[in-house]
Amino acid sequence: MKGIILAGGLGTRLRPMTLVTNKHLLPVYDRPMVYYPIGTLVSAGITEVLIVTGGEHAGDFFKLLRNGKDVGLKHLEYAYQEGEGGIADALKLAEDFADGGKICVILGDNIIENNINRAVEDFRNQDRGAKVLLKKVDDPERFGVARFDEAGKITEIIEKPKDPPSDMAVTGFYMYDGRVFDICRTLKPSGRGELEITDVNNDYLDKGELTYSELTGWWTDAGTIPSLHRATNLVAETGANNA
Ligand code: G1P
Repeated sequence: MKGIILAGGLGTRLRPMTLVTNKHLLPVYDRPMVYYPIGTLVSAGITEVLIVTGGEHAGDFFKLLRNGKDVGLKHLEYAYQEGEGGIADALKLAEDFADGGKICVILGDNIIENNINRAVEDFRNQDRGAKVLLKKVDDPERFGVARFDEAGKITEIIEKPKDPPSDMAVTGFYMYDGRVFDICRTLKPSGRGELEITDVNNDYLDKGELTYSELTGWWTDAGTIPSLHRATNLVAETGANNA
């Protein structure tokens, strides 16, 4: 399976720092943010990776990571996203790289305590469809949130709900089969003018092909000042991508 790290966006919630570099290159404790999603992929045995980025500071990724050997990657490619079309718009740029195979997509500002090897293995054995990873959170209104039926099956995922149907956030780790790019082509921009990854996941859900598992250990994004602070403290306390 190949890995895709989505690391575009203007990082407006982290200004002024993001006026001089890309959000995903800001430090989280002792290393740049993007090292963590790379570490997650590498520890799951995924060493062929595409980084999708954009904006004025895209060249900084090249300076930092070069061919990826120093961070454990066997093959590293880059793609450049024009504009601010959202996560599913960035993902479209990975179609040639994916070459019809299964992919593991990670948002570049998502950091986790433990590895995701088990979920990756389960998805390798899953015939088709998609898999998402969920985590219980205190502030579900900031995320995509799952609604469940009585049997514990997801019935719907709602992006940033004002009135969350559960406290289970959909984290920024997604696994898809090769049909994900066909789905991306059908998407329409949401109220915030973006192609939403939540719409991709709901499409698989409607097909009855979305599975999920719950992340163990802590999980955080790092795209706002409070969450970047939290990420730094959590990494300092326990490290990340632990076995
Ligand atoms: C994005 C997704 C959201 C997901 C979150 C995880 O939100 O749209 O569904 O729960 O990442 O970090 P954003 O970071 O664009 O606010």
